[in-house]
Amino acid sequence: MTRRFPDGFVWGAATAAYQVEGSTDADGRGPSIWDTFSRTPGAVLGGHTGDLGTDHYRRFAEDVALMADLGLGAYRFSVAWPRVQPTGRGPANQAGLDFYRRLADTLLAHGIDPVVTLYHWDLPQPLEDAGGWPDRDTAWRFADYAGLVAGALGDRVPLWTTLNEPWCTAYLGYASGEHAPGVQDPARALAAVHTLNLAHGLGARAVRAAAGDAAQVSVTLNLQVNRAASTAPEDVAAKARLDRVANEVFLGPLLDGAYPEEVVAETAHLTDWSFVRDGDLDLVRTRLDALGVNYYTTALVAGAGGAGADGTADVQAASPDGDQRPPANLVTGVRWLHQPGPRTAMGWVVDPSGLTGLLLDLHRRRPDLPLWITENGAAYPDVVADDGRVHDADRVGYLHAHLDAVGAALDAGADVRGYFAWSLLDNFEWAYGYERRFGIVHVDYATLERTVKDSGHWYRRLATTGVLPEPVHAG
Ligand code: FCB
Repeated sequence: MTRRFPDGFVWGAATAAYQVEGSTDADGRGPSIWDTFSRTPGAVLGGHTGDLGTDHYRRFAEDVALMADLGLGAYRFSVAWPRVQPTGRGPANQAGLDFYRRLADTLLAHGIDPVVTLYHWDLPQPLEDAGGWPDRDTAWRFADYAGLVAGALGDRVPLWTTLNEPWCTAYLGYASGEHAPGVQDPARALAAVHTLNLAHGLGARAVRAAAGDAAQVSVTLNLQVNRAASTAPEDVAAKARLDRVANEVFLGPLLDGAYPEEVVAETAHLTDWSFVRDGDLDLVRTRLDALGVNYYTTALVAGAGGAGADGTADVQAASPDGDQRPPANLVTGVRWLHQPGPRTAMGWVVDPSGLTGLLLDLHRRRPDLPLWITENGAAYPDVVADDGRVHDADRVGYLHAHLDAVGAALDAGADVRGYFAWSLLDNFEWAYGYERRFGIVHVDYATLERTVKDSGHWYRRLATTGVLPEPVHAG
């Protein structure tokens, strides 16, 4: 069956500042927590840093031409806060803003919409030194910064995203310590959750104050698709508990203006939640014009006495299964079970049906809220073949299956407006350095040469026709 996407459906690709830009000390940029963290011995695979990235800061014009050649209608990139406010506070560094003005103008000249994420994990180091995301003041600092960016780019940006995956910022940054700033303190991670929610609300208001009330503002969440291993009550309860700590701590305040009561009780051994003050939830909840969904995989979970209680099917925290999961010091009494099936180079199981279900759940919950897939993609160990091409058939298969899943959600009524492949380019994959390649365009890190992978050629056919090509066709 031919799958055709609706007219006007937006085809894009995404990156994030620290992962691609390089030029980390150009034009007055200050240090971010990722500059510090990547220099911490053992923190990043291979000791890699974002110092060079893909050199996008200097090669952006070439990269925009590549996007145009791929037929993209939008480019989702993030603004590096430490370029705009090198210390995280005070007046704007115009040289930093100028880079993003040039980038946006170049995109628009090619008919590509600039979709801006304000925070994709590169907190200015001085703000971390002052307490970081667990400190509520950081929310007000973020709002100031958001206002500066919206003031500079407001006339050019059709869609704003305040935060990318606050789950990762809070839980990987402050509970497991796998990400910058590398803190392992679950109580501070929960405080960070709340500051991030506040930052979204205050930041969204700041964007509208600077760019006009019509500015379209969203947030991007990596909502987890957890499945209970059985219908046994303990397994169902484990799933619900995980859904609360992973998803509802964001969706609850953002959409409904409240934290789930159970989550407060379930984390009472860690914190009394006194960081939530009177009036805060009114600040968090503000008009949301769209919701960004980042989707990669699913998880299969059980309670302590539920399915596989003999332990044979258990996956331990450090298992190469690698499903995204809240850190062990934050959630107890939940077991992750091994899921059969193909996996990507991240160890994430390939499970497109989770995306259809997630989109439909969100649509049922808020039928009026437009959804965007702001990230989806896969890492595989790509190589440039003798013919000079990158034959990433596994990535083509992954993208095809997930776009078919998006199409199924559209058929069932979900209001999905667009899709951004993660990522435009191979790049600095956080704790995995340059050892995991997600791009639809290959980057040779020795020469910085870009080579469109088979998946990129395949994606061009989709973006230019709106019809899902068969996965076999490389183009
Ligand atoms: C997401 C991040 C993105 C990238 C992908 C693989 O969690 O938002 O920067 O690292 O995972």
